Amino acid sequence: MGPGSARWISVTSVLTIWNIPSAAAPAIEAVPPTVLEGKNVLLLAHNLPDNLSAYHWFKGKEPLDKDLIIMHEIKSQETKQGKLHSGRETLYPNGSLMLQNVTLKQSGIYNLNIHLKRGDSFPCIHTLETQLSKPSIRSNGTTAVEGQDTVEITCDPPFLKTTYTWRLNGKELPGDTNVSLSQGNTTLTLLKVSRHLKGRYECKVQNPLGVFRSNPFTLDVFYGPDNPQIFPPDKYFEEGKNLWLSCQATSHPKAQYSWNVNGEHWSSRQDIFIHKVNMSNSGLYTCHVNNPTTGRNDFKVKEITIVAPGGIIGAPPVLVTLES
Ligand SMILES: *[C@@H]1O[C@H](CO)[C@@H](O)[C@H](O)[C@H]1NC(C)=O
Ligand SMILES: *[C@@H]1O[C@H](CO)[C@@H](O)[C@H](O)[C@H]1NC(C)=O
Ligand SMILES: *[C@@H]1O[C@H](CO)[C@@H](O)[C@H](O)[C@H]1NC(C)=O
Ligand SMILES: *[C@@H]1O[C@H](CO)[C@@H](O)[C@H](O)[C@H]1NC(C)=O
Ligand SMILES: *[C@@H]1O[C@H](CO)[C@@H](O)[C@H](O)[C@H]1NC(C)=O
Ligand SMILES: *[C@@H]1O[C@H](CO)[C@@H](O)[C@H](O)[C@H]1NC(C)=O
Ligand SMILES: *[C@@H]1O[C@H](CO)[C@@H](O)[C@H](O)[C@H]1NC(C)=O
Repeated sequence: MGPGSARWISVTSVLTIWNIPSAAAPAIEAVPPTVLEGKNVLLLAHNLPDNLSAYHWFKGKEPLDKDLIIMHEIKSQETKQGKLHSGRETLYPNGSLMLQNVTLKQSGIYNLNIHLKRGDSFPCIHTLETQLSKPSIRSNGTTAVEGQDTVEITCDPPFLKTTYTWRLNGKELPGDTNVSLSQGNTTLTLLKVSRHLKGRYECKVQNPLGVFRSNPFTLDVFYGPDNPQIFPPDKYFEEGKNLWLSCQATSHPKAQYSWNVNGEHWSSRQDIFIHKVNMSNSGLYTCHVNNPTTGRNDFKVKEITIVAPGGIIGAPPVLVTLES
């Protein structure tokens, strides 16, 4: 075999490579395939032809000047940074590109444009996904009125091949017909939110890279006032004794209270206290409750009868009154 055949063989092997594009075509591989924000990723250039004249790395599908990250010309050994070079990209002599401390903005398509000595060029395209090491929760409201407002809570970012799960106050979400998940479970919709959905929400993101938990998001749900109650439940009070009544309604934020006695405003407190009652204190006691935040109000009426001293012991007060 002379030198001629040796040359022929080497040419054949190159041609063979070009004839099996799936095995040997230039390709880009990202290591790791999905990268966490703040970490590094190497875009490995595989199977670059020997006789190339230059390579250009672009962010984006098209080899546009404005999208150039970095380029290298073989002959002059010249490396030039493009408009999208951030100072955190390193080009290796073998054409691979290292991205350091990646940000979410760097997700997307990377295009290595290979220029051959014979003048033509072709692209190698790769899509890179960067991922937040911590997902975050966004919501279209941090407060809501029960039975009225609908809240949409979203876990960002939305990733492929990722499981999203939600927790409320450290527990599984309640199975409520008004709670629905959508968009691959990244979005939680609380239809006409109810009070038991108040609290700390967390989303957990799980994929082959690991498990990540968001910071908590707090939703405040305003409700009430619910059906007010007056304590004590008694109806009869003895003349000369002190009368104390308290009105209570579940409400968030705390309800505002006011009392009317026989149709007249008496007090703007939650409790009523009358020192040494007399017969004139008998009548209708109405407790009004109002929650300015929910815009709701309610009231409760209680009838009170003042009886003669010693009139309440044991037997029905009316009879006792007759006896005295
Ligand atoms: C290119 O060079 C880098 C840095 O030396 C190396 O990590 C990488 O494996 C090389 N790429 C290939 C395809 O060999
Ligand atoms: C990574 O980049 C962020 C901003 O993009 C910067 O705040 C941070 O200091 C960088 N970290 C390192 C280790 O370079
Ligand atoms: C590239 O190299 C191969 C063999 O190594 C050869 O067949 C081809 O003509 C070369 N192309 C150019 C543009 O030099
Ligand atoms: C939040 O989003 C839901 C669903 O899109 C919508 O019904 C609701 O009105 C929104 N709430 C606010 C405060 O924008
Ligand atoms: C769901 O919303 C409806 C109003 O759309 C309401 O009547 C119902 O009480 C809610 N269910 C729960 C469990 O909150
Ligand atoms: C969404 O979550 C439910 C249970 O909460 C689960 O059954 C379902 O498979 C999840 N869907 C996706 C796309 O992860
Ligand atoms: C009853 O008490 C009120 C004060 O609470 C007082 O103004 C009134 O004079 C009293 N009436 C009688 C009959 O003692």
